[in-house]
Order: sequence, then C-alpha cells, then structure tokens
Amino acid sequence: MRGFGAASATAVAIAATSLFMSTASAAVDPIVIKGSKFFYKTNGTQFYIKGVAYQQDYNGNGTSGSTTASGTTSNSYTDPLADFSSCSRDIPYLQQLNTNTIRVYAIDPTKDHSQCMNALANAGIYVISDLSSPAESIDRNDPAWNDQLYARYTAVVDNLANFTNTLGFFAGNEVSNAPNNTDASAFVKAAVRDTKAYIKSKGYRTIGVGYATNDDADIRVDMADYFNCGDTADAIDFWGYNIYSWCGDSSYTTSGYDVRTKEFSTYSVPAFFAEYGCNKVEPRTFTDVSTLYGPEMNGVWSGGIVYMYFQEANDYGLVSVSGNTVTTNQDFDNLKQQLSNVTVSGVAMASYSPTNSAAACPSQDAKWAAAATPLPPSPNQQLCSCMYNSLGCVVASGASADAYGTLFGQVCGYGGSICAGISHNASTGTYGAYGMCNSTEQLAYAFNQYYVGQSAVASACSFGGSATTKPTSSAAGACQTLLNQAGTAGTGTVTSQPSGTGAAGGSSGSSGSGSASSSKAAAGMIGVPSMETGLLPMAFIVTMAAVSGMGMIFL
Ligand SMILES: *[C@@H]1O[C@H](CO)[C@@H](O)[C@H](O)[C@H]1NC(C)=O
Ligand SMILES: *[C@@H]1O[C@H](CO)[C@@H](O)[C@H](O)[C@H]1NC(C)=O
Ligand SMILES: *[C@@H]1O[C@H](CO)[C@@H](O)[C@H](O)[C@H]1NC(C)=O
Ligand SMILES: *[C@@H]1O[C@H](CO)[C@@H](O)[C@H](O)[C@H]1NC(C)=O
Ligand SMILES: *[C@@H]1O[C@H](CO)[C@@H](O)[C@H](O)[C@H]1NC(C)=O
Ligand SMILES: *[C@@H]1O[C@H](CO)[C@@H](O)[C@H](O)[C@H]1NC(C)=O
Ligand SMILES: *[C@@H]1O[C@H](CO)[C@@H](O)[C@H](O)[C@H]1NC(C)=O
Repeated sequence: MRGFGAASATAVAIAATSLFMSTASAAVDPIVIKGSKFFYKTNGTQFYIKGVAYQQDYNGNGTSGSTTASGTTSNSYTDPLADFSSCSRDIPYLQQLNTNTIRVYAIDPTKDHSQCMNALANAGIYVISDLSSPAESIDRNDPAWNDQLYARYTAVVDNLANFTNTLGFFAGNEVSNAPNNTDASAFVKAAVRDTKAYIKSKGYRTIGVGYATNDDADIRVDMADYFNCGDTADAIDFWGYNIYSWCGDSSYTTSGYDVRTKEFSTYSVPAFFAEYGCNKVEPRTFTDVSTLYGPEMNGVWSGGIVYMYFQEANDYGLVSVSGNTVTTNQDFDNLKQQLSNVTVSGVAMASYSPTNSAAACPSQDAKWAAAATPLPPSPNQQLCSCMYNSLGCVVASGASADAYGTLFGQVCGYGGSICAGISHNASTGTYGAYGMCNSTEQLAYAFNQYYVGQSAVASACSFGGSATTKPTSSAAGACQTLLNQAGTAGTGTVTSQPSGTGAAGGSSGSSGSGSASSSKAAAGMIGVPSMETGLLPMAFIVTMAAVSGMGMIFL
C-alpha cells in the first residue's frame, strides 16, 4: 500500500459559496460529434476528454448489483450529482487535474441535479452518464431489453438532457465480456437504438449514446465492429474503452496501445478511454497520459477518463474523502503533473472531412454469437398493456413470483409455439413481440396461449390455482394496430414506436436508491422471467416437454 502524498496532505473542504451559483443555469458550449472526433459546437475546436470517473461506492466494472442472500439485488448507490455539498467539495480538485469531463455510473432520475450540473458547467466540466443502475442494467448472463429498463434509461435521459454540459450517455458498461455471453450485446445495441430514437422523438439536443467496453482479447474487435456496423440509427455514437494494459512505466508497444490505436484508426465514430489507470504498480505514475494525448494517439483517440476519483477498497482512488475533507494522494499529484503537460489541439471541425466508414458486422462464429439483425424489439409498455387486457386467462393474484420460473417451464412445455411470443434468442435473431413485457404479462400471455389452444375451457386456465380467467376486452384503435402487428402467434414485428415516456412513465425507473427489487423472482431485474429459468424458454421447454410428454393435457 502506498502512503498519501505529504505535500498535499489535507485540504479543507471548500464551502459552497459564490464560486458556484447554484441556481443560475450555466451554459457551456455543447460538444458535438463529426466523424470520429468531438468538437466544441460554436468554435469548432476539437474536444479531447480529460476525464475522471466520479462515483462513490459503485462497482463500475460492469457487473450488476450485488445479490443478497435472499436473492434480491441491491440497487443502492450514491448519486454523485444529487448532493451539492459533495460535488462542490470535489470540483476544485477536479479542476486541479484539468478535468473537463466526469463519468458517472448511476444517477437517480427522480432527483434534481441542476446544482451540481451547473457548478460543473461553471468549471467547464462535461458529464457522461451511464444509463443503468446496479439493479437495472442489462445482465450479461440473462440479457433483456424490456419495459422496465426502457423506463429507467429514458428517465435518466429526461433528467440530464437539458444541461448543455451533458456530453453523452453509455447504454451499457462491460456487458459482454467473454465469447459465451456475446449474445447480450444484441440487447445493449437495441438499448442504444431506442435511446437514440427517444432523444430524437423528444426534440432534445443531439446527445450521443455510446457503449463502454472491457478489453477482452477474444472479442474486442468483434465488439467494436458490432456496435458500429449496420444502420446508423442503431449504432453507437461513440465508443468507450475501459483499458488497464499500461501498468507502471510501460510503453506504447508493451501496453498494446499501439495495436489498439491501429484498430481504431479506421473507426467511424469517436473512441476514447472510458476508464484507464492500471494500479498493478503503485503509486500510479500515469506515464501513458503523454502518449494518449501525444502524436501517436491523438489523431485516433479523443482522450480518456481516469478510473477513479474516490479511494475505495479497489484501490483506484486519486483522493480520500472523509466527510468534508478531501485528501489527495500521490496518484493525484502524479496525474496532475502529467495532465498539466498535455497540449493537444487536434483539427478544426470545418477543415475536417471524415473518411472512415462503419465497420462490417462480425460474422457469427465460436467467438461471436449475436446476429447483426434483427435486433431485439423495442420495449413498448402500451403494447404489453393492450395484450394483457385482451387476455382471457391471466396470472392469479395470489400466485407467488417465486413460482414463475416453474410455471414458465410448465406452460412453455406444452408446446413449442405457446411461448414463441415471449422467447428471445439473439443468436438466431428470433424475438417474440412480447419478450420485453414484464414477467406477469409474459406468464399471462403464455397461460392464455395454452388456454386458447384448449378452446378456452375453464379447466385449461388453472395451473394449480396460479391462473385465473378474466373478461377479455376487445382491442380497438391503437391497441388493435399494435396487436395486429404482433400477430396471433406473437411473432410479428411491431413497427409502431413505443409510446412510453421516461420520467412520466418510469415509475419503475424511479425506484432510485434503495429497493428496486422486491421479489426473488426478479433477482437483478424485475420483469424478466428468464432470470429464473435460465435459457427461457427453449432449454426448459425441452426438459419440460419430455416430462409432460408434449401433450396438450388438461390441468
Ligand atoms: C473554443 O471554445 C471552448 C469552450 O467554449 C474554449 O475552451 C476554446 O478555447 C475555444 N477555442 C478557441 C480556439 O478559442
Ligand atoms: C469488479 O469489482 C468488484 C468490486 O470492486 C471485484 O470484486 C471484482 O473482482 C471486479 N471484477 C472484475 C471482472 O474486475
Ligand atoms: C428543458 O428546457 C426547456 C426549454 O428551456 C423547458 O421547456 C423544459 O421544461 C426543460 N425540461 C426539463 C426537464 O427541465
Ligand atoms: C464463459 O466463459 C468464461 C471464460 O471465457 C468462463 O469463465 C465462464 O465460466 C463461462 N460461462 C459459462 C456460463 O459457461
Ligand atoms: C512536462 O514537460 C516538461 C517540459 O517538456 C518536462 O521537463 C517534464 O518532465 C514533463 N513532466 C512530465 C510529468 O512528463
Ligand atoms: C406488470 O404488468 C401488469 C399488467 O399489465 C401490471 O398490472 C403490473 O403492475 C406490472 N408489474 C410491474 C412490476 O410493473
Ligand atoms: C438460441 O438458439 C440456438 C439454436 O437453436 C441455440 O443453440 C442456443 O442455445 C439458443 N440460445 C439461447 C440463449 O437460448
């Protein structure tokens, strides 16, 4: 363990005073994207990210929230932009590092962030925010892009879009991290697509949506290509690279930065380090800074974000915070030295003519599972409600969410087509239209499919008391259009745009800090039945079909 730098020992907290006019709205020049570079919108000067990751008590390495003994996922996090006394305490230190960007990993979209956002703007600091939270994120082991996540993502967008120093959003962080979970990237790309469409539909300023990747040798090239390829409306606006390969006094070639730079030299959107700062050698000397912003790399990369501000158990901190007291450490001083030496001007927007074009989509092989098209369908709360209202057999109110896994296995086991409308498989690119509905809606859909297949005899809507009949309401108007698109088997393509809004429709996204998760069935993400069933439904179907003899039996 290293000691703290004596020279910068203890600094007294800066009181929240005139420096930060908390209520006045501060406007900075928005950052825009042209080709593979960022620019200040008004004067066209190229923008290089000099960033610091800024979030306390958060596992920013891409795993979702910690699972407790009871199987629920904790969604507790400290919103870094909600408490003015904290952010105003830290901004002077960020300024000492010449920081022009911070990355935050989870904000609470029900909170007001204007004080911190404006104080940051006054300090010339932009913000890149991840859209997920510990309990509401795309899970690499059981990926989905559903109504609940859509509500969360769009609520964060609504909350931050108005600030001119919002630089961009990450739709995911290190989700796929090995060949056997690359299918999850299809769901992240669907999230990118729908978040971009949402920003557009709300008439917000154009704000980029990107992805932050880990540095896995097996999949790094396919990952970057997959998110960049195909229709521009579906593709990432920028690519964040979490990279820890320059440790101690490494070099351009030893670290592999040279090869990464070559790989991204042809990339058509901005690429930057979304996390860097290996700590295998301490104190960290950040000798990569002069290379990252120097001539070997600054034509390809748009800078980087050092991981991270707060000293915690993972030992990546630049400062230790105790109450109002900030203590800088040797890493802080070293980084400050390095960044103060950076002079990089880049190119002027007007004289820059992008020549790179989008990558070709990766072919599916042993190392890459996700089909390039189609992507998973857009979450659409209205479609789910319409569907639910049309059903004659639904989940009984007394049915425990704990039993959903078993019930899915049972009902899907009665025939391959029963669950086609809720299945999803990113390798084959087959997605049921209702696979993004919540788990109650999905289970009701499956119950009803079975029930209808049995000529709607009451005994076919029982499932041991877990199912119950209800009056159907015949769909009309918009509902009818949506249900017709989904088709009777639920395998049609719904082309209508989701009507759900973020802040307004996002009751589930507003769970914020505390307790997003309520049931064991939804460990990690409420509303995703496949959480409990693993590869829903095909693997289970096979097992259950064998058990049940595949027969359409009455229960
Ligand atoms: C362009 O604008 C930014 C922010 O407003 C400023 O920091 C930068 O120095 C300007 N560039 C030039 C060349 O004046
Ligand atoms: C992610 O961070 C957590 C907590 O800091 C740590 O326990 C875990 O090993 C890390 N995982 C990876 C893949 O780095
Ligand atoms: C964003 O700004 C616009 C125009 O200034 C305003 O009408 C709108 O209410 C603001 N939205 C939010 C969520 O602050
Ligand atoms: C996926 O592959 C990694 C190694 O790349 C391995 O550690 C992990 O156990 C595998 N997961 C599954 C579910 O097979
Ligand atoms: C900063 O630049 C000066 C002058 O080029 C050089 O002497 C010094 O070693 C540099 N510092 C670091 C930390 O690279
Ligand atoms: C799931 O959908 C049903 C029916 O639309 C609704 O009543 C219920 O509140 C939803 N559950 C959650 C957790 O959103
Ligand atoms: C998707 O379907 C393929 C082919 O049927 C199968 O091998 C694979 O296991 C499925 N993947 C998932 C995640 O269900």
